[in-house]
Amino acid sequence: MNFEGKKVLIAYFSHIGETFSNGDTVELTKGNTETIAKHLAKKFNANMFKIETKQIYPVDYKQCSEIAKQEQESNIRPELVKNCSIEGYDVIILGFPCWWRSVPMAVLTFLDSHDFTGKTILPYSTHEWSGKANSETDIRRACPTANLLEGFTIHGTWVNTSEDKALAFVDKWFEEN
Ligand SMILES: Cc1cc2nc3c(=O)[nH]c(=O)nc-3n(C[C@H](O)[C@H](O)[C@H](O)COP(=O)(O)O)c2cc1C
Repeated sequence: MNFEGKKVLIAYFSHIGETFSNGDTVELTKGNTETIAKHLAKKFNANMFKIETKQIYPVDYKQCSEIAKQEQESNIRPELVKNCSIEGYDVIILGFPCWWRSVPMAVLTFLDSHDFTGKTILPYSTHEWSGKANSETDIRRACPTANLLEGFTIHGTWVNTSEDKALAFVDKWFEEN
């Protein structure tokens, strides 16, 4: 996959704090999804937009997980700190950690706030055990007029334990797709 001549935006959500990794909770000092986002920004000479919520998610995995679950069950759209214009971009690479087998609800806040007609969205995620799960279906529902490509997912633990290999996997994915 090659976005030559296209204007690319990397819009991503990433949580800094505890997550589940190899059967245990670990505290990350940088987000897995953010690590990939920064790599892609360089690769595609793209601008970055970090999707951040006004209400900061707790560092504690259990607490964060409970809030994320409640938000999903109630179909909430958490308020964002700021938004960005997508005007002028051809491609939006949308990055997120898999949360409760889908996208964090803040990603839906972002998607709901824009008209993606005529835009291409390439989703990618980092996950621990469930792969993409429902994420691409839920993105499709949120922006039915976008040209939604099938994206990739990568094991989060791999990103924070073998970053070079994980980034090489990402590069290979773009060569092969
Ligand atoms: C609230 C929460 C819910 C999660 N739910 C899932 C899940 O349903 N499936 C999964 O494979 N991983 C799940 N994970 C693990 C994250 O997707 C994984 O650790 C990811 O790489 C974290 O990315 P980040 O550092 O960019 O936030 C969850 C993590 C958190 C904090």
